[in-house]
Amino acid sequence: MLLQTESLNKEYRTGAEVVRAVRSVNLAVDTGDFLAINGPSGSGKTTLLNLLGLIDRPTSGEVFLEGQATSRLPDRVLAGLRLRRIGMIFQTFNLISVLSAYENVEYSLLLLRMGAAERRRRVMELLDAVDLAHLAHRRPEQLSGGQRQRVGIARALAARPALVLADEPTANLDSETSQKVMQLMAELNARLGVAFVVVTHDPQVAQFARRTAYLRDGQLQDETGGMSGVQTGSARHPA
Ligand SMILES: Nc1ncnc2c1ncn2[C@@H]1O[C@H](COP(=O)(O)OP(=O)(O)O)[C@@H](O)[C@H]1O
Ligand SMILES: [Mg+2]
Repeated sequence: MLLQTESLNKEYRTGAEVVRAVRSVNLAVDTGDFLAINGPSGSGKTTLLNLLGLIDRPTSGEVFLEGQATSRLPDRVLAGLRLRRIGMIFQTFNLISVLSAYENVEYSLLLLRMGAAERRRRVMELLDAVDLAHLAHRRPEQLSGGQRQRVGIARALAARPALVLADEPTANLDSETSQKVMQLMAELNARLGVAFVVVTHDPQVAQFARRTAYLRDGQLQDETGGMSGVQTGSARHPA
């Protein structure tokens, strides 16, 4: 099992008030899986994703990444796991504005001290995979929203993670661009075997996943297969 949670809880305390943002969540993500988590605004999607991404620590419960319990690991170990095993994609893209598309994708590889030749090959291969090799030198402000998110996808995949987590990746895109971005993620999932967990309030987005879980008030509801039932491989992609 790639990722598993056990009775995961996260509470926020502000003064006397306690918000139970994530409640008793048990979920499992296999190698190469594509899970959509659908829920309305305020249902705990970002909180849950930050727990899965080892960015936040649970109030109680556990996140197992590749069989390893993570809740008591020191920060520097978590940072290493995040860098090597987990890619993140964000609603607002979160690219570094002074860096080119190329440099944004390259960034984590510099942190990993990858050699120059291999780095260049990896970055160009990924920019090619998201169809942006010809715009590698552009900075984020010189790219459209869809192009920015494609850089975000390439960046998330740069270190060849086992798992990519995406928080409302299409919320700032028009519906046609959203479909293309989701289609790209589904293709990369199938081609590279990297698992995706995408949280979204948009039911349209969920149709690109292998399966969908529903989050309501921090609790995971029963899950279903994709919109077209239980299918695997390319058959799940809408025409
Ligand atoms: N840092 C925080 N401090 C206090 N409450 C928070 C914090 N972050 C989120 N919440 C609350 O937790 C609940 C879930 O929020 P969030 O995970 O952002 O949901 P979503 O991403 O589905 O919109 C909401 O009630 C929100 O107000
Ligand atoms: Mg959110």
